[in-house]
Amino acid sequence: MLIAVTRRIDSGALAQLEALGELRYWDDDLPPTPEQLRELLSGVDGALTLLTDRIDGELLDSLPDLRVVSNLAVGFDNIDVAACTARGVAACTTPNVLTQTTAEFALALIFAVARQIVPGARAARDGEWKTWYPFRFLGRDLAGATLGIVGLGRIGRRLAEMAGGIGMDMIYADEYANAPEYRRVGLDELYRTSDVISLHVPLTPETRGMIGPDALALMKPDAILINTARGSVIDTSALVAALEAGMLGGVGLDVTDPEPLPADHPLYAFDRVTIVPHIASATSVTRHQMSSLAAQNVVAVLSGTEPPHCLNPEVLKRG
Ligand code: GLV
Repeated sequence: MLIAVTRRIDSGALAQLEALGELRYWDDDLPPTPEQLRELLSGVDGALTLLTDRIDGELLDSLPDLRVVSNLAVGFDNIDVAACTARGVAACTTPNVLTQTTAEFALALIFAVARQIVPGARAARDGEWKTWYPFRFLGRDLAGATLGIVGLGRIGRRLAEMAGGIGMDMIYADEYANAPEYRRVGLDELYRTSDVISLHVPLTPETRGMIGPDALALMKPDAILINTARGSVIDTSALVAALEAGMLGGVGLDVTDPEPLPADHPLYAFDRVTIVPHIASATSVTRHQMSSLAAQNVVAVLSGTEPPHCLNPEVLKRG
């Protein structure tokens, strides 16, 4: 059995895989190019991948032995699941273990943007802290503010529970969720009436660019927009144009389009925009749990047992 791991992950997860077969892994912090990925995966039975590895039909066609792709992530927009299913490859992910951690981070970004934590820290570090300023770095209170959650899945729901604890009023837009404890509204109403908007949708053809010029134009002039989902849910050029036009009170981005966001990108020019490098699930406990779960998915499929989280379980029944 040959298994590829496309980045350095924790030794416990690697040991789980090593117990099953021979390991080949990409020993670099930066992702393999598509050609390097093809070479790394050639002839393997299982692959543990990251969200930066694109797994599509063309690549899969060159990997006839592959039986499982296990993404170290809850998101899977980098994997063409239909192409996996068509070729009998199980596509697996690592949900649940990162729900609390990611929701906590979304809340942290809300606090950071609402209370100017990053501009304040920068000013202190840069020697601009000369006295106690009665009217500088003024933020906004969150108690009583309306939090609009776009996508009330596991992470959105957990955020709603925590935000309720600080007195925020929740509304949500999600045609699939049913949460009677919060008020469901249409997207336009959510954009129009929320003080803080937090995005928790997967990246799909429907959600790509959903926060574009029309959605941004509906938002309150001082609305705070938070994205811990996927960068391409926001139309980046439209966001830059909106910020240049003085719209929005603040923006917190854990994810961007493109990703990574180049250091000279215009988004960095706005003090009211806080950008961090896709770290919402990055606590050591959670990343270890994700690694272990991703490894368990591979081990289970290759040993003929049921993996913890398979997106296309129908391929497992084909035997
Ligand atoms: C991270 O973005 C994930 O999808 O787990």
